Parts: sequence; C-alpha cells; structure tokens
Amino acid sequence: MAAITEDSKVKYSFLGKTGIQVSNICLGALTFGEMNGWPGQCDESLAHTILDRYMEWGGNFIDTSNTYGRGGSELMVGSWLERQHRHDVVLATKCGINMGRTINSRGLSRRHITESLEGSLERLRTHYVDIYQTHIFDNATLVEETYRTLDDLVRCGKVRYVGVSNVTGWQLQKIVETQKHLGLNPIVSVQQQYNLACRTSELEAFQVCKNEGISVLPWSPLKGGLLAGRVRRGQKPTEGRLGWVAHSQTRKGEAHPHWEDTSDQIFDLIELAIEIGKKHGRTIAQVAIRWLLQKDVTSSVIIGARTLQQLDQNMAVNDWALSADEMKQLDDASATAGTYPYVFIDSLNAGRTNANTGDYYVKSVAA
Ligand SMILES: NC(=O)c1ccc[n+]([C@@H]2O[C@H](COP(=O)([O-])OP(=O)(O)OC[C@H]3O[C@@H](n4cnc5c(N)ncnc54)[C@H](OP(=O)(O)O)[C@@H]3O)[C@@H](O)[C@H]2O)c1
Repeated sequence: MAAITEDSKVKYSFLGKTGIQVSNICLGALTFGEMNGWPGQCDESLAHTILDRYMEWGGNFIDTSNTYGRGGSELMVGSWLERQHRHDVVLATKCGINMGRTINSRGLSRRHITESLEGSLERLRTHYVDIYQTHIFDNATLVEETYRTLDDLVRCGKVRYVGVSNVTGWQLQKIVETQKHLGLNPIVSVQQQYNLACRTSELEAFQVCKNEGISVLPWSPLKGGLLAGRVRRGQKPTEGRLGWVAHSQTRKGEAHPHWEDTSDQIFDLIELAIEIGKKHGRTIAQVAIRWLLQKDVTSSVIIGARTLQQLDQNMAVNDWALSADEMKQLDDASATAGTYPYVFIDSLNAGRTNANTGDYYVKSVAA
C-alpha cells in the first residue's frame, strides 16, 4: 500500500453550527456485511482493514444505519470501535426504515426511535451516538413527537446531535420550525443522495440548509458505481453493486435510486468527467467526489468502498482541485432540467440579489 502524504490527508470542517469538526470524507458502512443480497460485500475482517486505513487518512467520521444488513453493518463497526479510543470517532447511525419485525418496527414514533437506539447502542458497543439521524421522513408520525423524542435522547446523553436524511424542502423547513417553536436542539446535518447525476436536493432542501446553517452530507457520491465509470453507454450493468441492482430490478420490476433508465445526458457527463480527470491524472470517481467537496453546502462526503483499493482511490481527493472553469463545465453538464416554478421565479428575479439578505440561493436548474 502506498504511503499517505500529509497534504493528501483529509481536511476538517465544522458540522453545522456545532463546535465539532468532522473530516471532509466520511466513511459509509453500507458495504459492510450482507445487504439486500448484494454479492461481494465486505466481511468483518475486510471491514476492519478498511476502517483502520480510513483512520490513517485522517478520517474521523463513520456513517451506518440499523437497516444496513439488518444490524450487520453496526455489528462490524461495533467490534472495531471497541478497540479504538471511542472519543476519536464521530459516529453516526440512523433509524426509521422498516425493520420488519412487527407493525410497530418502523417509522419515527417515540416508541420505535427509543427501541431502535437501544439496539444500535448494543450492536455498536458504545454508550452514545454522536449523530442520530432520521433515515427517512415519516408521513404517519407528528414531527413534534419525533423531534421531542430525539431531543430527550440528547438531554439524557445517549445522543450528542440530531440529523435527518431523505427529506423534501417543506419537510425540512417544518422540522426546523417545529424545533424552534418547541425550543428543541436543532438538527445539525441533512444526508441526501447528492452526486453529479442527482442534484434535485439543490432545488429545495439545500436552500433550507444554507439559510439555517445545516451541513449537507451527500450520500452515494458515485451513484452506486455509475460515476466510477462502471457502466458503458447503452449497456445494463452486469457486475458489482449496479449489476445486482439492475438484476434484482428486472426480476422484481422495481425502480431503484442507483439505476434508473440512464440517459445520454449522464453518459455525456461521464465522458466529460473522464476527460477532466485525465488532465489531473485522476479517475472519474475522484472527479465526482472532488466536485461535491467544492460545493459550498457540503461538509463531508459519505463515500462507499467495497475494497481497499476503492477506499484509497476515493480518499485521494484533498491535494488537488478542479478549476472554476472545470466546475462550471460539470455544473452545466449535470444541471437539473428547468421546471415550473423554479424557472419562472429565476427569470423574474434576474439580476436581483441583496448582499444583506445573505447568499442563500443555490442556482441549480438549467437555464
Ligand atoms: N441515507 C441514506 O438513505 C443512504 C443511502 C445510501 C447510502 N448512504 C450512505 O452513503 C454511503 C455511500 O453510499 P454508496 O455506497 O451508495 O456510495 P457510492 O460511492 O455511490 O457507491 C459505492 C459503490 O460504488 C463502487 N465503487 C466505490 N468506489 C469505487 C471506485 N473507486 N472505483 C470503482 N467502483 C467504486 C462499489 O461498488 P461495486 O464495486 O460493488 O460495484 C461501491 O460499493 C453508504 O455507505 C451509507 O453510509 C445513505
């Protein structure tokens, strides 16, 4: 394994308005353990090797969930964490997705959140979680119930900070306003799928993040491998994560966030990213991660690695940068198609900015 130079190690940024700093690359633990039958996921020994190497790069931020491998990922992180100085690691996990045991083993009720946290703490072999995240918005539970419960868990010391994941703009704003109204500890981070092939969160959720000082933690920076060049134009993936996703999707007739009907726009973008990468002596995966790091809403990009080689490649993104012109080329090639009301509002506001009201608008739709 190549030596890691000091200047290529991770950088640190504050998480939301808190006083804690996290590495700008977070290690996602979705690849640890059996997950939805995806073949070739990491066993415990490889997971621990990847975690050790991540720490050598200076990383201090790990993300998992009770749903990953139905607890299997948390177990692997826990058996590793037990051998570390607990306070060296900022540990994030999640609750809320259906765990399938009983009718109440899902959602964001006081009962299920409390039960989920107890299970996670046991598997992770720790007394506290640094960031406890709601995995998905729950249509069936009042926001008041969910965030009052999470606040109670902060107050009793089992959780340090609260984060959310997979929300729309109005849901996020409602959570923020409810917390203010009730005097609860505010959320510090929003974890959304965000990559060169999925920028829809810029339209709403990230506007809220900018206004409220909430950190964005992009998940699936490579869209499950698509932005690592794992699929060729006109072909369906047959190998690795995407191969399995495409196979099971065909079998079940279901859509999957990593593999939709992939358009020519995405393959044009992939070719552009390969070309830009060549100029820097970097891979397309590194260009895709670097593009996210240079977005001002991003605090830490949550990477996924199934091998040590993938980890090393994905971590090597801190000692070089994309130029402003390269960022613009990638922005233009990946822009979300303009729709109402965004385009209408933009067109009638052309040239109207007010420095005193803050830079809260992320321009994202194609002109
Ligand atoms: N909040 C949520 O709902 C949510 C959802 C998903 C993920 N996440 C978080 O985000 C993390 C990252 O997500 P992700 O695993 O989907 O990330 P990703 O980077 O989009 O995809 C990772 C997959 O891409 C392939 N890959 C990774 N690096 C590569 C490289 N350098 N070259 C070639 N192929 C490479 C590997 O698949 P193969 O080698 O098997 O093809 C790997 O398993 C997760 O661990 C989890 O913590 C959160």
